[in-house]
Amino acid sequence: MGLESALYIPGKFYRVPCVEAMWKHRVGIYVVIGPKHDDAEIIRFPEQHWHMHAKFAPDWAMTGIHRSGVHDVFSMPIHTHSETRYEEEFEARFIGYRVRKCRREMPVNPFPGRAGWHKELTNHYAEKSLNLKRPVCPHRGVDLSCVPVRNGCITCPLHGLMFDTQTGRVRQPG
Ligand code: FES
Repeated sequence: MGLESALYIPGKFYRVPCVEAMWKHRVGIYVVIGPKHDDAEIIRFPEQHWHMHAKFAPDWAMTGIHRSGVHDVFSMPIHTHSETRYEEEFEARFIGYRVRKCRREMPVNPFPGRAGWHKELTNHYAEKSLNLKRPVCPHRGVDLSCVPVRNGCITCPLHGLMFDTQTGRVRQPG
């Protein structure tokens, strides 16, 4: 996707990576952000999953309570197989790039300072910094060029690592 993803503008259409998956009991085609991965270490979430792209997610998918206890559903994990609380007997699969509408600006990530594992994640990456010309999150390699700068900071939409836009260094929340 590269830096072109910075051009994701609400109301316009883009070719974006998609998976066919079940989310909230609905089988559908969902736009994803970042690679398939697990978060066995630090976040202690061993299941392979993608994350739904919050700029492209349908409105009905953006409400509810995340399993972490955070009350906004955000960059929701889409599991690859069924042994989870959310997804029934359905195997998610990557289906390539499809044309989809960008529905909104990237919402504010609710995780920094709220999810219990976030401090540990921040400390683990404390010595890392972002290449500000081509911002890629050091945690799972997510392209951050579609993420707006807020308060001098870029916050990764997947797990909430925060980066100072002057120095590129990882920043503590708050
Ligand atoms: S991919 Fe996990 S914080 Fe960025």
